[in-house]
Order: sequence, then C-alpha cells, then structure tokens
Amino acid sequence: MDRNRLYNNIINDRREHPERLNANFERIREVAEIVLEDKAAGIIGKCEKDIADSRTPLTEKQGNIVVDALVDKSSPGELKLLADMLHDSEISTGEAISLHEQFKIPVSHLEADIVPVRGKGAWITDTRGKTYLDMDSNYSATNLGMSNPEIALGIFNQANQLISMKEDRVHIPRARFLKTIQPMMPSGLTQFYWQNSGGEAVDKALKIAKAYTGNKGVVAMEGGFHGRTHGAVAVTHELKYRKPFFLENEDWVHFVKFNDVDAIENLFLEGKAKTVILELVQGEEAGMRPADRDFPKRLRDVCDKHGCVMIVDEIQTGFGRTAEKKDQWFASMVYDVVPDIMTIGKSFGGGYPITAVVTNKDISSAMQPGYDGSTFGGNPMAMVAALIATRQMRESDLTTNVIERSKQIMSGLNHLKDKHSIVSEIRGLGLMIAFKLPSAEAVATLQKEMAGNGVKTSLSTREWVRFLPLLVITKADVEHLLKAIDAALSTIH
Ligand SMILES: Cc1ncc(COP(=O)(O)O)c(C=O)c1O
Repeated sequence: MDRNRLYNNIINDRREHPERLNANFERIREVAEIVLEDKAAGIIGKCEKDIADSRTPLTEKQGNIVVDALVDKSSPGELKLLADMLHDSEISTGEAISLHEQFKIPVSHLEADIVPVRGKGAWITDTRGKTYLDMDSNYSATNLGMSNPEIALGIFNQANQLISMKEDRVHIPRARFLKTIQPMMPSGLTQFYWQNSGGEAVDKALKIAKAYTGNKGVVAMEGGFHGRTHGAVAVTHELKYRKPFFLENEDWVHFVKFNDVDAIENLFLEGKAKTVILELVQGEEAGMRPADRDFPKRLRDVCDKHGCVMIVDEIQTGFGRTAEKKDQWFASMVYDVVPDIMTIGKSFGGGYPITAVVTNKDISSAMQPGYDGSTFGGNPMAMVAALIATRQMRESDLTTNVIERSKQIMSGLNHLKDKHSIVSEIRGLGLMIAFKLPSAEAVATLQKEMAGNGVKTSLSTREWVRFLPLLVITKADVEHLLKAIDAALSTIH
C-alpha cells in the first residue's frame, strides 16, 4: 500500500492528476534528506548512477529503482511522510525558485524564502514541510481559508459543465449570483460589472465616472493605492509606481492630502475634476491608515453639493475585513456613507479571481453598449466561487469573528507596546492592523525572526509592520501570533 502511494506520487497517474509531472531526482533527494536525514545519503548514492539529469522527470524504470531503495530503508511512518511531501510537490524548492528567477518577468520582489504548497485555515505549508501562520492572506484574497473544499467542489462541477462564457452572453451562474449578492451591498448599489483583478475594476470605475460626469478630472489621495493597471497607477500616489511609465504628470489627476475635504471641494469648484477616488483605510502605501471618522460623510456632502462622483475603492477593505458591527460588509457601512461607485475585489471568490465595479442605476446608464467589454469578466467559474464564498461569509457569521479577533490583536499589541518601547504606534480598523517600529530595517529583522517562529508577515510599509490576516483566523492563531511578535521584539531590543 505505502509502496504504491509512494510510487504514484513519483510516477504520476495522469488519469488521477492531469496537472502534475513525474517527480525528478532533485526533489526526491530534497525530501529524502528532510525525512530520512543521515540515511538519505546511502539511498541517494545507490540510485544516482541510473539518473543522468536530476531535473528531468523520472521514467517508470527509474521510478521503480528509487522507490525500491526508499522502501528498503524507511519505516512505515517515514514512507508516509515521503509520499506526502512528494504529493505536495514533484519539483524541488531550488528548481522552482530558479525557474521563476530564470523565466519570470521580475515585476516584484520574489519572496523566495518559502515555496507554499498547501494551506488550511490561516496556515500554509511549504515544500520543506514547514508550517506558517500567514498574516497577509494573499493581499486579502484568501480570507476564507488557504483551501476551501466547498469552493473546490463548486469549481470542479462548473468546469465539467461550462468552463467559460464571454461577458456579453447571459449564463446561469452569473444570474444565480446576481440573485443572491444584493443583500450584502450598500443600498442603491445594484448594478454590477464583473472584472478579474482590482486594477481592472479601478480602471473601469474611472471610465464609468468619466462617461457619467463628462469631465476627465479625478481627485485622488496622497498615500492612496489603487493597483497596477495604467489608470489605477495614474491615481496611485507613490511616485515610484508612476514615474517609470511617464504617469507622474497626468493632467487629469489631482492629488490632495487624505482627509482634506476643502482641497477636494476647491478642485470641484475650479472645474478641474468631477470625480474623487479614495480608500477608506489606506492599506498598501500608507500602512493601514483609517480615514478620519467624519471625512467620508463630509466628502459625501461635498460630492452631492457639486454633483460629483465619489468612488470608494473597497478592493481590500470589503467583504467584512473592516467590520465593527455584525454584517458590516464594507468600510462604507462602518463610516455610514453610500459611494456612487464602489470597486470590490479580492476575497469574494474565496481566492478565485473575481472583482467588480458596482454603482447605482443612474450612473450605470451612462455606459452604452460598446463602451466596454471583457472576455473573462463574470465567467461561470468565478461566479460559482463567488456564490459559495459570499454564502460562507454570511452563514459563518464572518464579521463577528473579525470584530472579536481585531479586539484580541489590538489589545495584545497594546500590551506589547507597553512592554517593548520600540513599538511607538498601533493603528488600523477591523483586521487591517499595523504597528510602527523605528526603521524599515527593524521591520525586516522582526519579520525574519517571526518567520523563524512560524509566522509569515510579508507586508510592511516603510517602518510599519502590516497585518492583513485571513478573516477566519482563530483565537488560538492570534495567541500564536502575539507570542511570536513578543519573542521577535525581545530579540531586536
Ligand atoms: C485598494 C486596492 N485597490 C486595488 C488593488 C489592486 O488589486 P489587484 O492586485 O487585484 O489588481 C489593490 C491591491 O492590493 C488594493 O489594495
């Protein structure tokens, strides 16, 4: 039995796993060294002469030689672990990283210290079998867990029935989702246009606002972040994101200080803009800075007074992340405002890519057939994932967990601030939380220490350590987190 399982995780049965390759020798060596430690060298030495290239998938004959050698020297427990780790990946950690370094356009800093292969709840396991509490939830995309059997089954069923369908055809999964999503939305925001990424949703929101106002000007916030597509970058404040693409002097974009209603009103009065875009908690670039309590309502009044469009980007804040009360699905609900246009994204596919622009009937009518289009927007797989994910959010009372875990983290951090003087400030809303250290170097050291203690906190903004945990994070997970922060802070005093 164990021999068969080990063999099947090396020589892949394509009928069972069409997505996999046969394992190569480099991966088998890596796994054997982790599981069998000193015994591994002898086994590897015995097989090496039969394998010319350690990165080429093994043949059946080579697979049998390796399996015989492993079975001969391993206990049943070791065999199970070998099979499990080969199931997690048939490619070695080193090869996976070098393939990315060799062939991937280097648009971001590769986090090459771990290669995640599996996850459950708020935890991820890497190719080396190490487990970490994940504190960034893939930028808030996997709020419902690092794996999700119900969504997996829904996607599998839908892929077998109808895998894709273009935006301009009616299909049942989209109709079904339109029928069920409405109660979660702020009142009046009833018109949806589905997209695949946050940047795309922001671009489409800007197009809709321009079509409606007949004015190309847009006011955006200092410290704001809206994504990496051309339009989204243009309204993102950080110069290093705009300058390489000649987007630092767009005549239609006007930046003002976050919370400065007067500056926005002046731009409206001068006729320079009729649209404003903002996050209610500035996440990526400002380090979890919530808007002043009265700012969104004052801005709402100014937009109403001048007939201007208020776009709230809820791509990160949405679907319960910032809740202060039960069923506050959006930060707009926490601040008690209804935007004219809202961008939503990240987590409502439970990890499957799906985003949207949402608006009211009046603004929506500015868009005419032919103004836009999308091949994959609102495709059947995404709609199925979204239906299941949003139902899980409601049925599991997700916002109550957000409220409780937020309180637990905030009170734990306040306690740690009293204990460790290098923590100077804590801020956030719901499960968007950050604390401040003296320097970016101190943040990097803390993150490294925490990874050693089984917590991955990849996110930071200069001297701010940012936490964006999965919304299903448990009480015990938070206790683990706080202990890891405490231990790490003690080492960098
Ligand atoms: C507020 C906000 N808007 C837009 C985006 C862009 O989303 P995506 O990476 O899906 O394009 C992000 C991503 O972090 C975001 O935080």
